[in-house]
Amino acid sequence: MKKLTQVEFKERRDQLAELMGPNSVAIIATSPVAMRNRDADYKYRADSSFFYLTGFAEPEAVAVIETYESIDEGYTYTLFCRERNREMEIWNGYRAGLEGAIELFEADESFAIAQLDAEIIAKIVNKDTLYYRLGHQTEFDVRVAAWNQQADAQHRQGNTAPAKIVQLDRLLDEMRLHKTESELELMQIASNISAEAHTRAMQTVKAGMMEYELEAELNYIFGKNGCVPAYNSIVGGGENACILHYVENDKVLKDGDLVLIDAACEYQCYASDITRTFPVNGQFSPEQKALYNIVLDAQIAAIEAVQIGNSYKEPHHVAVRILVQGLLDLGIMQGNLEEIIASESYRQFYMHGTGHWLGMDVHDVGSYKHGEDWRVYEEGMVVTVEPGLYIAPDDETVDAKWRGIGIRIEDDIVATANGPLNLTSKVVKTVEEIEALMAKAKSA
Ligand code: GLY
Ligand code: MN
Ligand code: MN
Repeated sequence: MKKLTQVEFKERRDQLAELMGPNSVAIIATSPVAMRNRDADYKYRADSSFFYLTGFAEPEAVAVIETYESIDEGYTYTLFCRERNREMEIWNGYRAGLEGAIELFEADESFAIAQLDAEIIAKIVNKDTLYYRLGHQTEFDVRVAAWNQQADAQHRQGNTAPAKIVQLDRLLDEMRLHKTESELELMQIASNISAEAHTRAMQTVKAGMMEYELEAELNYIFGKNGCVPAYNSIVGGGENACILHYVENDKVLKDGDLVLIDAACEYQCYASDITRTFPVNGQFSPEQKALYNIVLDAQIAAIEAVQIGNSYKEPHHVAVRILVQGLLDLGIMQGNLEEIIASESYRQFYMHGTGHWLGMDVHDVGSYKHGEDWRVYEEGMVVTVEPGLYIAPDDETVDAKWRGIGIRIEDDIVATANGPLNLTSKVVKTVEEIEALMAKAKSA
């Protein structure tokens, strides 16, 4: 099982310490456990940025990185975490404990999480800058503010609180936006498993099945590979595909309808994000096929636009032009191509963007603009390319034969010096490939 090594987590801490500069302190807390009801909690998932720096997946943990006046002094990485406790471990599972924090997770020092309030002040006083991820957890924000006050209250002893408090996310988000080879390997694994899940969905779908039954086929492949969904799966038959965030997945899949599946897993905290749309009965109708091929052409051209140096928005511009021309050709829209694009009246049928950063989070961190300008693709950035067309079931401005058809096709693309690299190419997407795969599954 491919996992990141501590060498990589340490490299990230080294990089962060360098970006922080001298005489600074960074405080990074993991996510709290989320309660589902009473004493039953949701399956725990560490905070992405905390995990990115530590590889530590247990709850109730805080990492602190301190730099000193001289860069030559290096930095100190302290991990506050749960102590080992035989009884708690019998009930709730293994803990690395304070020794494990040092031996397994390479902290320079470790303390019990219960010691955080007592130990943290000494790490804050007399630092120039405090780096903190403000706004993620209100309760923790309040504690950080209180620590800052306590540090400030030491001024008569000759100590000072940091003069600057800086949003740590700005540093970490930029680091996370550029993926290393190892990160791309994990994303490729997540993508392969997700592609297998979509392939299985195409092979197993039948008219009369419930949408959640098809979702179960996806979950089987995710679970069999030790993965969890990276986001709530969308399995929308027929007109449900026109609801962009449809997650009820509780309707019958009907003969003659398409089904849109937007579902993918995360592997070792790295996400994939795939959408495929295919006919429940294995054969596209002429209308479905006509619309599908417009979306496919738009998607293929938009992927080609993920070139280093191109604007983040270029795939969207490319996709919109092809989608609008296709709608004009089919008579679904009337008018002038340039005017429709300029007025954005196409949003009646295509109302979302064409992609987003992808990484540890499905809608990953990283800025989209530098100042006024959309930023450009750089080596190792990963973006989704996901154009679609959605003809609302009650849209009386279009011929009835088109209504209720919703289509999206989504792949995950890495910007590389050799051009766009598609991580999710293992699941078919042309009409011919889909129909052939589904026909083969039926005859088997
Ligand atoms: N699955 C969420 C998205 O495509 O943005
Ligand atoms: Mn997406
Ligand atoms: Mn998606």
